[in-house]
Amino acid sequence: MKKAIFCCIGILIFTIIACSDNDRFDEVEIPDFDFPSSVVFEDSLSSYSIFQGEPADLNPSTDFQLLELSSILFTDYAHKQRLVKLPVGTQMRRLNDGSIDFPDGTILSKTFYYYNDERDITLGKRIIETRLLIKENDIWNVATYQWNETQTNAVLELNGRDTQVSWIDVHGNSNSTLYHIPDENECIACHQSNSTMIPLGTKLRNLNRIVERNGESLNQINYLQSVGMMDDFQVSLISNIVDYNDETNTLAERGRAYLDLNCSHCHNPTAWEVVTERDFDFRYETPENQTGILFEKDKIKEALLDSEMPFIGTTTLDLEGLDLVIEYIDSL
Ligand code: HEC
Ligand code: HEC
Repeated sequence: MKKAIFCCIGILIFTIIACSDNDRFDEVEIPDFDFPSSVVFEDSLSSYSIFQGEPADLNPSTDFQLLELSSILFTDYAHKQRLVKLPVGTQMRRLNDGSIDFPDGTILSKTFYYYNDERDITLGKRIIETRLLIKENDIWNVATYQWNETQTNAVLELNGRDTQVSWIDVHGNSNSTLYHIPDENECIACHQSNSTMIPLGTKLRNLNRIVERNGESLNQINYLQSVGMMDDFQVSLISNIVDYNDETNTLAERGRAYLDLNCSHCHNPTAWEVVTERDFDFRYETPENQTGILFEKDKIKEALLDSEMPFIGTTTLDLEGLDLVIEYIDSL
């Protein structure tokens, strides 16, 4: 009996601590980022002619090129299509830090969708939003477009919005979540470095992988060079980041790739002030003993297990990602 009472009190105290902990994070506010912009976004996604034929088929127009990443950001199990369009006669250029210099006029798009049934994709999909990054006058601009119910077009949504999504996963289980379409300020919270907007997935190491193009398997960077979209350099000059889902890679490589793509846009020394005060640096290239991971192993695990982190961008827990990070941290 006594034991039961102690146990109840224990649970009560634990709950209070856990709740106050969550409240602490609820109080953290994303600052109002008043970054300069250089384009006025069109009201309708169709103005950008990103797709040809039925828009819902997500068939890119000829001037948009597919970009595939080795490791990706988890967003509530959504599938994503990433495309790039460059102005005629221009190229992406390699910068020494492994990022890409894009010409003015570049459009990067990312479309989020769910298959109704992952076991049989011919049963259709629901497209939720298409996010755009457009570079003009050396400044990146962000906006997202929410797709309509009939999936014929999408309209500008700068204020963010929640929408219920449901799907059947590969195991045949029904899933649903209140998917969050980010507002403009949330885009900027992630897509910034030293108080300017930047793309995040288009690092050369994340594009340095084998892809299928026109029925052939080849290196994606070599392919982009062959169609004139990337300047000429030896692919052997650049490193690569592993696919964190690919278990043939080491646990350390996979764990660090996950943290890079899912956490490092905020947890790096060039992010916004409240986060940088935490002194984490989860970027892939940062030596392990400078990431802050070794000193805060329990805090990182807790933040993930309590769904406090990632701070924004998801409404469901990435169970596989969580297992991976915990296994990696426990191995240190
Ligand atoms: C939680 C952080 C986060 C938020 C919020 C976020 N993004 Fe991103 N975004 C990323 C990361 C990380 C990538 C690269 C990895 C990937 O695509 O899986 C990315 C990729 C992209 C890309 C593809 C080009 C690139 O940068 O690699 C576009 C376009 C984009 N985001 C636009 C937006 C827009 C517009 C918003 C707001 C409506 C937004 N993002 C909100 C983290 C975020
Ligand atoms: C959109 C930005 C953003 C992203 C993405 C993000 N974080 Fe955070 N993180 C924050 C902020 C803001 C705080 C600081 C809150 C505060 O003031 O204590 C924080 C704090 C933390 C803390 C400290 C928790 C504590 O108890 O003190 C840990 C650990 C952490 N983050 C881990 C992660 C991990 C792991 C990921 C990726 C899965 C991640 N974060 C992704 C913004 C972010």
